[in-house]
Amino acid sequence: MQYKVFEEMKLLRVARVPRRYAREVRWLPQIGDVVPDFKAETTAGPLSFHDWAGGSWVYLFSHPAAFTPVCSTEMVSLAKSVTDFQGRNVKLLGVCSSPLEEQRQWHSDMARSLGADISFPMIADTQRILSDLFGMLHREESGECTVRKSLLIGPDRRIRVISETPILVGRNTEEILRQIDAVQTVDAYNVGVPADWRKGEPCLLLPGAYGEPRFDFWRSMRMVRSYLTYVGNPWQIAFGANERKQAA
Ligand code: BEZ
Repeated sequence: MQYKVFEEMKLLRVARVPRRYAREVRWLPQIGDVVPDFKAETTAGPLSFHDWAGGSWVYLFSHPAAFTPVCSTEMVSLAKSVTDFQGRNVKLLGVCSSPLEEQRQWHSDMARSLGADISFPMIADTQRILSDLFGMLHREESGECTVRKSLLIGPDRRIRVISETPILVGRNTEEILRQIDAVQTVDAYNVGVPADWRKGEPCLLLPGAYGEPRFDFWRSMRMVRSYLTYVGNPWQIAFGANERKQAA
């Protein structure tokens, strides 16, 4: 089966796709898209997404099923890191196709036996409407369950990070927090974030940003190549700059 991709009536490319996609045209979330509003039943009561999110960031993640091993370890890990998310102004919201009552029983059991206090809402998406909307159902992986898909959504409701992991591979909460730090650093200081970066480490000066007077980047600049210049930890540099401004 061939699927033709056109732009302004000009044939761009021909991609081979599975036969069943021949008649499907649907939205698949992409970085930069605004997340549509929706209402849902959750373990913390009914929720209207835009109102609930308010001015916060949101980490929206799918969870294949209640009372399953990999999911249990992820829930414990997220529950233990709730304050780390709160400290970054990020609200957690899960999408799980298991019914509400089953999820509540699972959470109670994990609270008793694993010490995990699941304080964030989990949607009961029993009809898989949201799972489908957000492209969380990958039919070659499972006809029943979602894969482990996560969206980091900014306060302006735009998607900033999308990640997908197979059902049997649990996500890494430290990596999720690292990505949040990275995106928030990019937003705050208009810098690039290098590979394997962790908060507090040097960032990258963007092409054309040499003349920017906002922070004392020039003090910490380390030019490696004409196209690769590191700057010190912008959070620290900016803090120093603010302190100096207040002292003056
Ligand atoms: C798990 O979380 O371990 C799991 C979830 C769905 C199907 C199989 C395993």
